[in-house]
Amino acid sequence: MSEPSASAPVRPAAVLILAAGEGKRMKSATPKVLHTLCGRSMLGHVVAAARELSPERLVVVVGHGRGQVSAHLAEIDAEAQPVVQEVQHGTGHAVRIATEAIAAQGAIDGTVVVTYGDTPLLTAGTLDALVTVHQEAGNAVTVLTANVPDPTGYGRIVRRDGAVERIVEQKDASPQQAAIREINSGVYAFDAKLLAEGLSRLTSANAQGEEYLTDVLGILAEDGHRVGALTVADHHEILGANDRAQLAELRRIFNARLTGHWMREGVTIVDPATTWIDVQVRLEPDTVVLPNTQLCGETRIAAGAQVGPNCTLTATIVGAGARVTNATTEGAVIGESATVGPYTYLRPGTRLGRKAKAGGFVEMKNAVVGDGSKVPHLSYVGDAQIGEGCNIGAGTITANYDGVNKHRTEIGDHVFVGTDTVLIAPAQVADGAYVAAGSAITKPVPAGALAVARGQQRNIDGWVERKWPGTNAAQAARAAASREGTADAENGAVASGDAGK
Ligand code: UD1
Ligand code: CA
Repeated sequence: MSEPSASAPVRPAAVLILAAGEGKRMKSATPKVLHTLCGRSMLGHVVAAARELSPERLVVVVGHGRGQVSAHLAEIDAEAQPVVQEVQHGTGHAVRIATEAIAAQGAIDGTVVVTYGDTPLLTAGTLDALVTVHQEAGNAVTVLTANVPDPTGYGRIVRRDGAVERIVEQKDASPQQAAIREINSGVYAFDAKLLAEGLSRLTSANAQGEEYLTDVLGILAEDGHRVGALTVADHHEILGANDRAQLAELRRIFNARLTGHWMREGVTIVDPATTWIDVQVRLEPDTVVLPNTQLCGETRIAAGAQVGPNCTLTATIVGAGARVTNATTEGAVIGESATVGPYTYLRPGTRLGRKAKAGGFVEMKNAVVGDGSKVPHLSYVGDAQIGEGCNIGAGTITANYDGVNKHRTEIGDHVFVGTDTVLIAPAQVADGAYVAAGSAITKPVPAGALAVARGQQRNIDGWVERKWPGTNAAQAARAAASREGTADAENGAVASGDAGK
């Protein structure tokens, strides 16, 4: 067999993700690692990065909120294995429980990577580099370190003649050690056998009375094994979130990464600080994203489309050249060169055709709108099919709900629906038909017909003068009547109070 090449490390035997801690400072009913940023839970980001190493096993150590965490894990990665740590006796204890659980399923050999469930910024590239360095150097363990401006709270990397000698926790550090700015990220690559050996010799003789995983490095170094380190270029990668302020900071950093990526891919983002993009989103070159816009879930935007300002698009497909402004959409498909907004709400099942329009104050749900059809103003269209080239007048409502069941509205091609029409579903308006403004449609409208469904207008002359004499309205009416009389006289006509009859 050939030696593994430098660029392709041997796949790790296991990645262990520690996620048993309580996360008290989140003050939340939701376990810390399930809090989200950029479209995924913190744990989801860590699992996704770990998966890129193609480990033989992916184990998550769960404890606090284990029911919720395990259920979430099953959803995002069915192959990952939760291992329960009943009581949190420290990082060494957590890793020991995980390795024992794996060993019970068969001997492990090779590289074991350890990382945390609350450090979502760590990239697959960095994990991969750690494993590569570890395997190429033939180390017993390689720790990912970072040089940070403020090392408070972290374990310090103690070196002798450049080599890592051990890690000292903040609470156990002498003032000289506390001054060290190279810190332990908590991410490691271990040789599986030596890891097991080191874990078996851990004690809890330290300031916190815990089994420290960090002590394994000291033990292996003392035994004369090679202990290596890889220093991460960008120390932000190893940041964890202990409270919601830190989570917001991680979210901002992650989002800046994503907006930076898409701008380099040819997307114009006018204000990256107010543009929020989930990891699942895909944007084609020459799309434009205007300020205050959130692109969530499996949203796709095709070339030349413009979205924003003030849009929240979730799992929405936007066609090439479309314009979407001030809109909230979810599970919608917006056709090529279609226009949406402002103040438009497109709900799941909405499909706008090519050059279709959903205008101001329009809500749609489970509605298919054909090519070139327009719903420009103030409408609700639900459970409906609209053909091509239709104009649906301002204020048109599909009354789809009878209080118990939902019913469909079917509108053909090139239909004209007058303003303020209510289409009481089930409703059908066939090809080329017209509906008069203000109609309440209860019966099918045949192709090419005009449907008028409203009360006849009746004028009761002189009503205001009789009912409210002396009011402004009565005076205005009288003035109008006398003007009309003068005009009629000038035209040589007979003045008449019943001119309108
Ligand atoms: C640990 C390291 C420290 C490092 C820091 C980086 C040790 C002894 N110290 O310190 O050198 O600088 O991480 O963030 O390892 N966990 C469990 N079970 C436990 C204890 C912890 O699953 O019994 C999990 C926690 O949920 C957390 C992670 O392990 O995700 C780290 O634990 P934490 O208590 O935060 O370790 P630190 O004291 O910060
Ligand atoms: Ca921590």
